[in-house]
Amino acid sequence: MVDQMSVALGAGLTLIVVAIHYARGTGWEPPADISQEVLERRAAAVPETDFPEPMNRSIGGGAAGAIPAGEGGAELEEGEEGGDEEEGFDPEAIPDDEVEYYEVEFAKEGETIEIANNENILDVGEEEGWDLPYACRQGQCVSCAGQIQDGPAGDYIRHEHNEALFDDDMDDGYCLTCVAYPIDDFTLETGEQP
Ligand code: FES
Repeated sequence: MVDQMSVALGAGLTLIVVAIHYARGTGWEPPADISQEVLERRAAAVPETDFPEPMNRSIGGGAAGAIPAGEGGAELEEGEEGGDEEEGFDPEAIPDDEVEYYEVEFAKEGETIEIANNENILDVGEEEGWDLPYACRQGQCVSCAGQIQDGPAGDYIRHEHNEALFDDDMDDGYCLTCVAYPIDDFTLETGEQP
């Protein structure tokens, strides 16, 4: 009899404690969503780069190896192959009313002839009957090279295409006659290579 009373008393007390506990709540609050804050903090710790999407999409990914734009990129350094000042020059696109003629003295041949700004030097020289050197006729070798005696080649001719001469060579007056078009009068030594 005593045991039954003790068990009932214990059960009653337990129920009371449990009821009080739930009545007051557990005090647990769901944590705030800090994932965005964490992402922003991590992103702020990554150095800024100009690396284009999507390579720089991941936080921290690729930043160490990123090459800032303009450094080691597409631009040719001075002295590198291929003067870029002729980029896009198309002599066939010159309108008739913009065709101009210039006097080019061929020093070794001993003659001065007129060449239009839409005619390349090699073609016109051959039409004169001169045996001028050439190979590719596409600006890819230096077989046809000549040296302008008056100054930097860029002041006297435009190249339609130049894959063979360095900027320094052109500064010394060298040009590729197969793809060179006059923009001024000058004297040329044919058969001269840098
Ligand atoms: S012939 Fe090759 S660059 Fe002129």
